[in-house]
Amino acid sequence: QLSNGSITDNIFPSAPAPLKQPFVIGVAGGTASGKTTVCDMIMSQLHDQRVVLVNQDSFYHSLSAEKLKKVHEYNFDHPDAFNTEVLLSCMEKLRSGQPVSIPSYDFKTHQSIESASPVNPADVIILEGILVLNDPQVRDLMNMKIFVDTDADVRLSRRIQRDTVQRGRNIQNVLEQYTKFVKPSFDEFIQPSMKYADIIIPRGGDNDVAIDLIVQHIRTKLCQHNLCKIYSNIFIISSTFQI
Ligand code: CTP
Repeated sequence: QLSNGSITDNIFPSAPAPLKQPFVIGVAGGTASGKTTVCDMIMSQLHDQRVVLVNQDSFYHSLSAEKLKKVHEYNFDHPDAFNTEVLLSCMEKLRSGQPVSIPSYDFKTHQSIESASPVNPADVIILEGILVLNDPQVRDLMNMKIFVDTDADVRLSRRIQRDTVQRGRNIQNVLEQYTKFVKPSFDEFIQPSMKYADIIIPRGGDNDVAIDLIVQHIRTKLCQHNLCKIYSNIFIISSTFQI
């Protein structure tokens, strides 16, 4: 391929190519659609690469005492429920190769908790959350946008199971919240963000073929990136010798 000249023209530009930024993947989808499973599968197939997972949930605003009293009137599925400014700043830092502290969030108390998790920069950054494809500034950070599309009845049954077992809720609360906020916000903000996805995965984590194809694509991109790095190093060495 190098002999046809077309690639060497790109590889040896007049100045060394800057090192490329990490490959950023956004994984959106409705509640309990299987986003976490999809991310886990991508991460386990990329075990030989440096991959980090950032959760949009970590950036929920803590509820004030006032709002806590009326928690059943609070819409956790609205874009304003998240501190998108802090999310953007963490993602920008990671993209430029700096370590960050990601806040931790407690779904039982609806509060951000003190112990933030340190996250190191990596070659692949996965940002997962219901609304990660909704905000144009967040979308602009991404090299690949995925939407996990799972039937609403499957999602609701998983949500009941999860919220009652892991998040300290009762069935009646879950159904009320679903009808009042989760479903209307899905229809207004999440479902419409599907049009921005490069890849739509039906059936979430049950779709091995889709995950394999996605991982193949990421590997190709990382390879191109590494080749770029190698050739730009060769360029630096060869120009040093010329001097
Ligand atoms: N939520 C809540 N209480 C809070 C904060 C968020 O009930 N204090 C709910 C919101 O209603 C929102 C959901 O949490 O719908 C977002 O989490 P979800 O996407 O369901 O969790 P994941 O584990 O990422 O889902 P998946 O199964 O797709 O991996």
